[in-house]
Amino acid sequence: MTTQPHTARLIDGKQSAQRLLAEVAQQVQACRAEGVTPALAVVLVGDDPASQVYVRNKLRAAEQVGILSHEYRFPATLSEQQLLATIDNLNRDAAVNGILVQLPLPAHIDEGRVVRAISPLKDVDGFHPENAGGLVQGQRVLTPCTPLGCMRLLAEYGGDLAGKHAVVVGRSNIVGKPMAALLLQAHCSVTTLHSRSQDAARLARQADILIAAVGRPGMIDASWIKPGAVVIDVGINRITQGEGRSRLVGDVDIASVSAVAAALTPVPGGVGPMTIACLMQNTVTATQLQQQAAALQCAG
Ligand code: GUN
Repeated sequence: MTTQPHTARLIDGKQSAQRLLAEVAQQVQACRAEGVTPALAVVLVGDDPASQVYVRNKLRAAEQVGILSHEYRFPATLSEQQLLATIDNLNRDAAVNGILVQLPLPAHIDEGRVVRAISPLKDVDGFHPENAGGLVQGQRVLTPCTPLGCMRLLAEYGGDLAGKHAVVVGRSNIVGKPMAALLLQAHCSVTTLHSRSQDAARLARQADILIAAVGRPGMIDASWIKPGAVVIDVGINRITQGEGRSRLVGDVDIASVSAVAAALTPVPGGVGPMTIACLMQNTVTATQLQQQAAALQCAG
């Protein structure tokens, strides 16, 4: 008798994102029925090619679900003061529900200052310290889109998360830290690994759920994976292949890991589409939070 080699189930992020976008489109219709059309302002400074693609995809998704979008494009020479003035105007504009400043920003602009300038109730990226702190304390706040998208994929493909051991590789403010907070909230035992971790692969092999968010192509191979683990690959790395050709790969070495894991997200087509769908969800959530805040103000 011959045995088939094991191959992990591929998690279809495109399909899950379309399901989420359909739900968001219904929520947008409900807002419209109450006389409010959710609106997202997207700010892009400079001409980073990857950022241009991301922004285009975000605007396209907004259109798909019926969210109004306003695009603000500035040259890389824009001063920090000018950017802060733009954000101030958007904060005050009641017709704008979400503000997204695409990162990275040119080196002469302080990203932290820009993130802190965005009203927490319009911070659809969930990067403002007030939202980051609220997330850790389990409050209903705007939450970073990529970790939110990973949680949705885990809800669909990961089974019951309570009591599982989740390992997050990477500790960025955008992915690693909020991811760990969300997994903890879902009752996982959580380990965060990073570039200074000793024996990282051995610790990762204890994971029922492994989130790879390091930004190093193919770094996570089968030696990091417990048989049967669910693996979510957040990495989006462009690698050149000679003759001017390039392609996108994740942080996970798919060929080796798919022989060990139970399920795995591809790159592209895994977490990426979920991030954009969650941005749309966050724009609706921001609209709802603003309406609640306004109602409380009237009542008070
Ligand atoms: N650049 C890379 N990822 C992101 C993101 O999630 N939000 C913003 N604003 N910029 C990014």
